[in-house]
Amino acid sequence: MRTFNNISKLQKHLIELKNSDKTIGFVPTMGALHNGHISLIKQSCNENDITICSIFVNPTQFNNIGDLDSYPRTMDADINMLEAADCDIVFTPTIETMYPSNSEKEIIFNFGSLELVMEGKDRPGHFQGVGTIVKKLFDIIKPNNAYFGKKDYQQLLIIKELTKQYRLTPKIIGCEIIRENDGLAMSSRNMRLSNEQRIQAPFIRKTMLWAKENINNYSPSELILEVEKRINSNPEMKIGYFEISEADTLIKCEQWKDNTDYIAFIVVEMGDIRLIDNIELF
Ligand code: PAJ
Repeated sequence: MRTFNNISKLQKHLIELKNSDKTIGFVPTMGALHNGHISLIKQSCNENDITICSIFVNPTQFNNIGDLDSYPRTMDADINMLEAADCDIVFTPTIETMYPSNSEKEIIFNFGSLELVMEGKDRPGHFQGVGTIVKKLFDIIKPNNAYFGKKDYQQLLIIKELTKQYRLTPKIIGCEIIRENDGLAMSSRNMRLSNEQRIQAPFIRKTMLWAKENINNYSPSELILEVEKRINSNPEMKIGYFEISEADTLIKCEQWKDNTDYIAFIVVEMGDIRLIDNIELF
């Protein structure tokens, strides 16, 4: 595996690969890698000649400085996992490389209503920061395919919109959520859970499965209230939000409609750790 932290050296290497007609798959990450990230790497390896992973904790997408400071950083272990997964290239730029002090003003994106709900509403500026860094990375790497997890489903839709608006090169591929055996969605934040919090955390998935089983027994608003009540009854948990939305647009579901794909989205706070998950209701 080749490691680069310098843009021009990386680009020189990529040009050589592209000149020999190699397809490039790209997996952007913020490190603290787990098997969820690795599943994206493996999918990219299966579908491309060369797979490149970036590791960069992007400051502009954190609206809370405490969250940025406490974000886990495990570079050595990450590199070992990428090697073991047969990743070809890892790009580990510094903040100064991605945000040089003499750079032009950043673009303000218009993601429309996609940005006004859920993570966009709760974390002002978050998707502007995600859009900024992903566009920079796409512009540097110009991959054929780029892989994003459905765990951050709203992010996946935002990236699809970004790619469409700016006619960026890659095809955006959404990948399934990878879970622990007990159902907890894998997340870099899970390693911060206390023993008791970790024992309780699979209750999020259990509640989501209960919601999916009960869509015929409740109206959307009743189902939302019931899920909120169940989560808040767990002493380790506080509901952030539970929302049911149309899969393509994230328009909130007020009444069940036929022939519409809905996804239920949840955020649960366990102490200062914010866990996110979703489930397809179709
Ligand atoms: P990060 O949280 O490191 O996630 C990198 C990618 O891994 C994202 O596409 C995310 O959806 C995916 N992922 C995380 N957990 C997963 C799981 N359990 N199953 C499947 N995929 C999972 O998302 C980001 O970083 C950043 O916002 C980034 C796109 C890199 C921009 O900074």
